[in-house]
Amino acid sequence: MGEAVKDQREEVIQAWYLDDNYDEGQKLPHHKDPKEFVTLDKLAELGVLSWRLDADNYENDEKLKKIRESRGYSYMDICEVCPGKLPNYEAKVKMFFEEHLHIDEEIRYCLAGSGYFDVRDLNDVWIRVWVKKGGMIVFPAGIYHRFTVDTGNYMKAMRLFVGGPVWTPYNRPHDHLPARKAYMDTFVKVLGDRTIDASA
Ligand code: LAC
Ligand code: NI
Repeated sequence: MGEAVKDQREEVIQAWYLDDNYDEGQKLPHHKDPKEFVTLDKLAELGVLSWRLDADNYENDEKLKKIRESRGYSYMDICEVCPGKLPNYEAKVKMFFEEHLHIDEEIRYCLAGSGYFDVRDLNDVWIRVWVKKGGMIVFPAGIYHRFTVDTGNYMKAMRLFVGGPVWTPYNRPHDHLPARKAYMDTFVKVLGDRTIDASA
């Protein structure tokens, strides 16, 4: 086959396995040595969806409008994560970095700046997802994750939601929640089935 067309999303969303041998500096990239990148297709296998959009045109963007219509994202607001705009900035940055899940999707569209969303893969290993201006990402209900700004200390994000927003984080462990069970059934079980197929 010819050269694959470059996935435009990769210019604004990159993912890699975290070096888990670090104990401080959550805002640093923390690549493994050597670096181990994760494709956006692999993220999709975890239920993590992504798009690249025109962040300079978010108020008038047909592509965003279609995504919102098809996925029912009726609610949206815009928030800035940076010192001066977010009260108790450093404390919040630490709090966002606590591993947690939600019982609804977490939908973030980066309009400016950048940040790291860390998610657990199906083997419970951390993947760091770097989302920059123009990157839109959806984390499914029930996935364990956390967020941090990078060293730029700035992210302007559109937050979307189906209906009235509820941002409640359930810090790990919350494995008994139906949303967690549903996530495990949908995604982790798929991996199990595939493992069996591969050895057949
Ligand atoms: C959130 C990020 C911190 O729940 O995951 O808003
Ligand atoms: Ni969250």
